[in-house]
Amino acid sequence: MIDVDYETGRTKAYDWLYVGGDAIGTKNLVDAVNDGKTASWSIHKYIQEKNGFTVSKEPKLPGFHTAIDHVDISTEIMGLKMSNPFGLASAPPTTSYPMIRRSFESGYDFAVVKTFCLDKDAVTNVSPRIFKVAGDALKLEPSFGNIELITEKTAEYWVEGAKEIKKDFPDKILIGSIMCGFQKEDWVELVRYAETAPFDAYELNLSCPHGMNEKGMGRACGEDPAIVKQITEWVVAETKKPVIIKITPNYGYAEALAEAALEGGAKGVTLTNTMPGLQDPLPDGAPIVGVGLKDRLYAPGGTTGSVLRPFALRKCADVAKMVPEIEIFGSGGIISGDHAMSYL
Ligand SMILES: Cc1cc2nc3c(=O)[nH]c(=O)nc-3n(C[C@H](O)[C@H](O)[C@H](O)COP(=O)(O)O)c2cc1C
Repeated sequence: MIDVDYETGRTKAYDWLYVGGDAIGTKNLVDAVNDGKTASWSIHKYIQEKNGFTVSKEPKLPGFHTAIDHVDISTEIMGLKMSNPFGLASAPPTTSYPMIRRSFESGYDFAVVKTFCLDKDAVTNVSPRIFKVAGDALKLEPSFGNIELITEKTAEYWVEGAKEIKKDFPDKILIGSIMCGFQKEDWVELVRYAETAPFDAYELNLSCPHGMNEKGMGRACGEDPAIVKQITEWVVAETKKPVIIKITPNYGYAEALAEAALEGGAKGVTLTNTMPGLQDPLPDGAPIVGVGLKDRLYAPGGTTGSVLRPFALRKCADVAKMVPEIEIFGSGGIISGDHAMSYL
């Protein structure tokens, strides 16, 4: 049996070695798990104090600090300085400002708010609206389908909330994601209103495969370079802030859309949005997530997760090579740190 200090799990032989469980004669699983927690906290305390940080005796998360935290991964994109290149795309994790706040607290450097529109185009989302479509044996590489539309929250929510959150996180980058149909007056009205908020940049959602293409929005105006250029020009004329175009993975030549965005005055592109998709039917022929309690109708949706990553990576590589003047935000199937590295 190894001789330890039971309060910390530290061995009497070495001040850097901590043990628990069978090795110290712990009799049951619950106590062994507790040994692990005790040792983890003590190891954390040991490393922190060696680096000159003070750590309480009582465990309190988060706050781990290791030598890797000294590596400089700061970057600059479109003139915006970031302490790291990681952020949240416009999607469920940015559904509300409390969620964005938590992402900033946990270290993300930028967040793109869930896409908002003019009140006249407001949407209602059904629930549930996300489902798993594929996975590997270990379930580590999931892909998802979804029929979620843009935000249900008003433009006012996103504008007023931006003022609050930028007060608390002045150095974090907050990107306003906006969407209209192919009407100049709509884009102008929405951007002018968004300009009353301290967004650092705008992302134009010209690529949602299902929300709301029937109104001429999203992907409906994102697969024609001439339209992409025109919308970009309308928006760029109204703001001095950098404009990013979010591109569909569905169009064959992302570089043509990126070129059009650049000509229109955009500084960046996000590659990519979700891939248009439809759900597998259940054995009774109904969709997994249907619309309408009684009818359970199919709704076209988007496909994301690991199945999207090879497409998105290819688009990033093509645009990086052929339109090097434009900045790229990578999005699609990032499930691990390795995947994030492949985009970098
Ligand atoms: C449920 C859901 C909702 C989304 N909503 C938006 C949105 O409102 N605006 C937008 O630009 N992209 C939206 N996206 C696209 C994501 O921002 C992202 O580009 C895409 O999901 C690819 O990344 P992933 O494979 O990591 O999910 C949404 C994606 C999902 C899954």
